[in-house]
Amino acid sequence: MLRQVLLGVSRSPKIKKAVSSLPVSSGIVARFVAGERADQAVLSTEKLVSDGLFVTLDHLGEDVTELADATATTDAYLELLRQLSEAGLTQQAEVSVKLSAVGQALPGDGEKIALENARTICHAARNAGTTVTLDMEDHTTTDSTLEILRELRQDFPETGAVLQAYLRRTEADCRDLAHAGSRVRLCKGAYKEPESVAFQNKAEVDKSYVRCLRILMNGAGYPMVASHDPRLIRIAGSLADRAGRHKDTFEFQMLFGIRPEEQRRLASEGHTVRVYVPYGEDWYGYLVRRLAERPANLQFFLRSLISK
Ligand code: FDA
Repeated sequence: MLRQVLLGVSRSPKIKKAVSSLPVSSGIVARFVAGERADQAVLSTEKLVSDGLFVTLDHLGEDVTELADATATTDAYLELLRQLSEAGLTQQAEVSVKLSAVGQALPGDGEKIALENARTICHAARNAGTTVTLDMEDHTTTDSTLEILRELRQDFPETGAVLQAYLRRTEADCRDLAHAGSRVRLCKGAYKEPESVAFQNKAEVDKSYVRCLRILMNGAGYPMVASHDPRLIRIAGSLADRAGRHKDTFEFQMLFGIRPEEQRRLASEGHTVRVYVPYGEDWYGYLVRRLAERPANLQFFLRSLISK
């Protein structure tokens, strides 16, 4: 309930302006965001990798409405990939891309532009020896994102998908994507969605997550279990055992700054654990989704605003 209210209120331009004026170094922003520049994100990646973790980096930004901004985001990914390559990190670090940041929502040719920009990023990632995963945004973009994924996978079959367990359609999408070579990140879902398309309460979302996970673990693809939920992490382990999966045939994923001890514990047990590291100046939307997930974060955040 609080989550839905917060996600709704966050659309207010006044609130966005007040929050965006916080420096990225302020406590709550720095907890979830690795910095505003690529070199800061690469530094965070180096630290995580030295602890035995893997990384996926997200250049923050979404819902781009100008072609120039979509091009700038694409260029930012090319620069990031160059820096990761120079630092020798492309075996351990890949990138995550939001299609709305590379043009998907532009009027007219938006989908075509997003596909071409994503293709450019996939090409650079492959040249650097790494991969791309397409983030999933609100439900109005799901069909378009899956269609662009299908197109990209013709040339870049290593491109990863994200599916959201809160959507009623996701079990069917899991069946479609649980084939050999298919990397699928399963998360609960972070947007405000109507009841017609999404489960609204935690118990229903969790049950859906388990059903989806069962399909992915029993399939031939590479499941990426993106959750901090201790119960779901345990269930993922048992489903993988029951499906006869070895530890190198699936991975756990968590967000930068959330349950870091658990990330290291799972890695110390021999699991692949990948941390999603966001960076960039446009951190507002990302931060709001993290605050909405946990009331305790909100208190911490309000303290940051008051002490500004
Ligand atoms: P849940 O929210 O139930 O949290 C379980 C426990 O984790 C909490 O009790 C708490 O201990 C901890 N926790 C969770 N969130 C926290 C927070 N913000 N602060 C502090 N503690 C927290 N979503 C989406 O719609 N599209 C996408 O592309 C992605 N991509 C993505 C990648 C990766 C690697 C991850 C881990 C997550 C995403 N998400 C996402 C976000 C996802 O949908 C979801 O909103 C969050 O992961 C929170 O859900 P949990 O599964 O962690 O469970």
